[in-house]
Amino acid sequence: MPEPLLKIEGLAFSFDRTPVLSGVNLEIHAGENCLLWGLNGSGKTTLGKIIAGLLRPGAGRVNINGPEDGAPAGMVLAEPDRMLLGDTVLEDVYIGPENLGFDRTEVERRAFQALDYVNLLDYRDRPTAELSTGERKRLAVAGALAMGVELLILDEPFAFMDDAQAERLFTVLHGITESGRSTLVLSGHLLWPKRYDRLFVLCDGAVKSGQPDEMARYIDDLTAVCSDPPETVEGG
Ligand SMILES: Nc1ncnc2c1ncn2[C@@H]1O[C@H](COP(=O)(O)OP(=O)(O)O)[C@@H](O)[C@H]1O
Ligand SMILES: [Mg+2]
Repeated sequence: MPEPLLKIEGLAFSFDRTPVLSGVNLEIHAGENCLLWGLNGSGKTTLGKIIAGLLRPGAGRVNINGPEDGAPAGMVLAEPDRMLLGDTVLEDVYIGPENLGFDRTEVERRAFQALDYVNLLDYRDRPTAELSTGERKRLAVAGALAMGVELLILDEPFAFMDDAQAERLFTVLHGITESGRSTLVLSGHLLWPKRYDRLFVLCDGAVKSGQPDEMARYIDDLTAVCSDPPETVEGG
């Protein structure tokens, strides 16, 4: 096995004195499409923010083998409206690479490539305020891709999406992992679990992991482990 892209060891985190995460161990390899599933309030968003560098861990180690230029991990928040800063689609995607200090030509190259990737190139001059929920999420994904992230974390990406929109986003995620980068979906719903390479369950402040098939057994048993198991939306 090559070195994992992300390696978390003994991670703990508390808000004030209330522990949220206690002893999280987690490894993600390059090219893996992962799902972290857990109850509402189990700490998925908190863990994602720690990996993306938006929160500082209380204890433990978070290691990402990222690129020299760019940001190793990026997170698309649950409410993409909060993340859209540009007036137009193109301006919004420029912001990340501009802040990383790339020159104009490189900013444009990255922005156009990322928009093409999520199928929003034709929308580049549209005001961000006019986009649908699914388009906003895809724009937020483009913003992270333009920054050159190796690990893309998406918090509840399928919320408020219909099946066709979810399908389109899944296609984008699979394209990302095919190009050797990794994705981590955080969700309280088990939407299409078998489409992921790896499934993590966050429970009692720690993470259990496995292949979707092997985790299926565990999921059946989740009632024994979690007092109030997450809602199952769909199999497949
Ligand atoms: N800013 C905050 N201050 C204090 N407690 C918080 C804050 N954000 C989240 N929490 C608490 O931390 C726990 C984990 O929250 P979160 O990471 O959002 O879980 P999830 O994403 O799995 O729903 C919850 O009990 C939540 O109430
Ligand atoms: Mg959350």
